[in-house]
Amino acid sequence: MEQTIGFCQETRPENCGFVLFGATGHLAAGKIIPALFGLCAKNLAPENLYFLFAARTELDRRTFEEHLAAAVSAAGARPSPRELKNFLEKVEYLRADYESDDFYRRLSVRLDELDAKSGLKKKRLFYLATPPAAFKSITEKLKAHSLLFDPRDCGCWSRIIIEKPYGSSLETASALDTGLKETASEAQIYRIDHFTGKETVQNVLALRAANSVFDETWNSGFIDHVQITVFEELGLEGRAGFFEKMGLARDMMSHILQLAAITAMDLPASFKDTDFKAEKRRFFESIPLLDAEAVSRQVVRAQYDGYLGETGVAAGSRAETFLAFKFHVNNDRWRGVPFYVRAGKKTGIKKTKIDLVYKKPEHGIFKTLEIGYPNIFSFEIQPAENMNFSLIAKHPGPKFCLTSRTMDLNYREHREEFASPTDYERLLIDAMAGDQTLFLSAFEVRFMWQFLSPILAAWNDGAANIPLYAYPSGAEGPKEAANLPKQDGRAWL
Ligand code: BG6
Repeated sequence: MEQTIGFCQETRPENCGFVLFGATGHLAAGKIIPALFGLCAKNLAPENLYFLFAARTELDRRTFEEHLAAAVSAAGARPSPRELKNFLEKVEYLRADYESDDFYRRLSVRLDELDAKSGLKKKRLFYLATPPAAFKSITEKLKAHSLLFDPRDCGCWSRIIIEKPYGSSLETASALDTGLKETASEAQIYRIDHFTGKETVQNVLALRAANSVFDETWNSGFIDHVQITVFEELGLEGRAGFFEKMGLARDMMSHILQLAAITAMDLPASFKDTDFKAEKRRFFESIPLLDAEAVSRQVVRAQYDGYLGETGVAAGSRAETFLAFKFHVNNDRWRGVPFYVRAGKKTGIKKTKIDLVYKKPEHGIFKTLEIGYPNIFSFEIQPAENMNFSLIAKHPGPKFCLTSRTMDLNYREHREEFASPTDYERLLIDAMAGDQTLFLSAFEVRFMWQFLSPILAAWNDGAANIPLYAYPSGAEGPKEAANLPKQDGRAWL
């Protein structure tokens, strides 16, 4: 086993109470409950931690426990009876009526009781896994019932985690942000994008920061282009109501931009929250927004065949399930280097990947050879967790022949030596520790909508007549997406 060298930083979650609103919803069942269970089962949770789950549904204890156990096993965990029991013992359920003062009074009393039982002093995390329309009124009520504390007053804290979609347009997102800021400070708001918590995404930064051989070449002098792929085998998974309103671009753009930023931003002076966010902001500010003409040339949207037959999908729905686009980053590091992005549902494979494609050699004997791109740095984020660097080497033997080889670091082999947190688990630890580094700033959310707005506007402009292509379920998007790199003399990898 290798040893960590020199730098090793651990974020320690503080003892606290964790309140989950929307506990019976899709997000809670799919991501949050399994993550909370995982923290407990992997001994990553703080010593004193209790959970208070709330939702509108009336549930008896037994049904509630069955709901939790089902969510844990649906996420792939196979808990022992003891692990499950340990988790269930920490969880309480409270029926919620988010508009009613009575609910917040009951909540407040119960939190004080649970605090007393666990020896805690008003350190609370509120996860709003509700529709965003409810964010403002919930935070107002929390504030009105003295459940949002200013840490300067009491040595206690209260933090709010919210999750995309932050609105459905630039205007609704801004209104949402303004509404939230009326009751909570920026330091209390944790905007989650779980892609930033993925182990391999963080490794991109570690690799660049620690190995100058890579970061020194991470620029337009060496890199020909960058590709980002976010493919999913899954389709709607019972989320037609959400997806019909959102479409893939709104659903996935935040993830895509975060992957781009972490790959291509300048390295921050430190990994402290403020330095990190400042550098990310500079990166986003260097991305020129696409105008209507650029949208028609360098954005492709498509829907998989069979989408219209899915339960809950409206007849003639124009919701896109696939998106491909090209963008540039207008700074000294990346000027002239295109970034190509593909993301889609039902693409036959789950694959999240970032490829940095190095330029072909310019010199001497190799210049004229048809060797494609000899060097590609690939970060396979999921499901594989690999870093590959392909290069050209001499083929062993008496002749001087060239061959392509790949240096491969299978991250998973090493990851399994440790009780490694999943993306949500890591971000929940950070939130319990008060570390906002991997959470999004208000600026990042606003930029996401600024970037998306002209794309959505062009799609909605009947006169622009931008096609919605079709692709067979199981294919890697429509054939028209191939034209994006092709028109620049390149191809998807
Ligand atoms: C979510 C999207 O944010 O990310 C889903 O709403 C998508 O539509 C999911 O399936 C993908 O996340 P992961 O971690 O499973 O790749």
